Amino acid sequence: MPVAGAGEVLIRVGACGICGSDVHGYDGSSGRRIPPIVMGHEAAGRIAALGVGVTRLAEGDRVTFDSTIYCGACGFCKRGEVNLCDHRQVLGVSCGDYSRTGAFAEYVAVPARVVYKLPENISFAEAAMLEAVAVAIHAVSLAEISAQSTALVVGAGTIGVLILQALRAAGCKRVFVSDVDASRLKLAKELGAADILRADADVVEQILQRTGGVGVDVAMEAVGRDETVNAAIASVRKGGTVVLVGNISPAATLPLQKVVTRQIRLQGSCASAGEYPQAIALMASGAIQVKPLISAIAPLAEGPQWFERLYTREANLLKVVLTPGPVS
Ligand SMILES: NC(=O)c1ccc[n+]([C@@H]2O[C@H](COP(=O)([O-])OP(=O)(O)OC[C@H]3O[C@@H](n4cnc5c(N)ncnc54)[C@H](O)[C@@H]3O)[C@@H](O)[C@H]2O)c1
Ligand SMILES: [Zn+2]
Ligand SMILES: [Zn+2]
Repeated sequence: MPVAGAGEVLIRVGACGICGSDVHGYDGSSGRRIPPIVMGHEAAGRIAALGVGVTRLAEGDRVTFDSTIYCGACGFCKRGEVNLCDHRQVLGVSCGDYSRTGAFAEYVAVPARVVYKLPENISFAEAAMLEAVAVAIHAVSLAEISAQSTALVVGAGTIGVLILQALRAAGCKRVFVSDVDASRLKLAKELGAADILRADADVVEQILQRTGGVGVDVAMEAVGRDETVNAAIASVRKGGTVVLVGNISPAATLPLQKVVTRQIRLQGSCASAGEYPQAIALMASGAIQVKPLISAIAPLAEGPQWFERLYTREANLLKVVLTPGPVS
């Protein structure tokens, strides 16, 4: 049983989502889940106990929390760039530098400063998607969208379809989405894509056809491979912006002269920095829907099988949420 230290709260976990990064940690490929570690960072639940000095929250509150534990005191935190904190730790991660117990458990303790209250109309399973929603909103905030903007989202995975919805919520009316998987494209269409593009054909060609040969204002890259990064860069108009969110590959080639002579802005986006309240509001109002992304809600005891099914890339499996037991 974890204990809430000073400034912390103890949360009885209601639900915790399996993130792609958990699967890459589970197979050892990322090196960021060095055993022994309790994984899990996309969680929500009810406050079971308060540590010394916590006054803003109360026992019984329904809450979620930012998976990034920032220090609140370094230069980056003071500027509000908490995602870039010098002492950033992610819950449920153990790498060379630190190890921090996560939320695939009945209880987890986290600092009160990263905790957010939930409205009654958001279930714990839906709230477990808030981390990904905040990632999408943060990425879109870096894209400088206006009502006239046209956008391409490369990749219709969990992050891609949330970026699509965040773009729509920001007022962008024409959002194109590309993917190699037809079922994911179908979901993107249902969630508001103006048009869906098969990535096994030439995406750039399809974008040029739909934008009078000009290209889109903004491309949001949510896959992270060499070919998709290059498709994103080739799809934007002169002076356009590419927001880089995907990072499956550690490196990608850069078409230097195209970026320079077409004056393209390449913008990285990491996690989120204060977007949780907005994410909660957009989910509560229905502007961002996460239910269609949840493939299964299963007992925590079945976690090993679900990790295996995600690892073997079973078809039609998007987000899996684990629940340690009935928490209401
Ligand atoms: N920057 C951040 O803060 C942040 C946060 C979370 C995830 N990510 C990254 O975002 C990326 C997407 O994460 P996810 O959870 O949505 O993964 P996901 O596996 O659910 O989605 C990836 C999608 O890309 C599609 N795809 C594969 N090859 C493609 C191609 N050539 N063209 C178009 N689509 C293609 C897949 O079919 C899939 O639908 C990953 O690289 C992940 O590491 C970044
Ligand atoms: Zn995650
Ligand atoms: Zn800091």
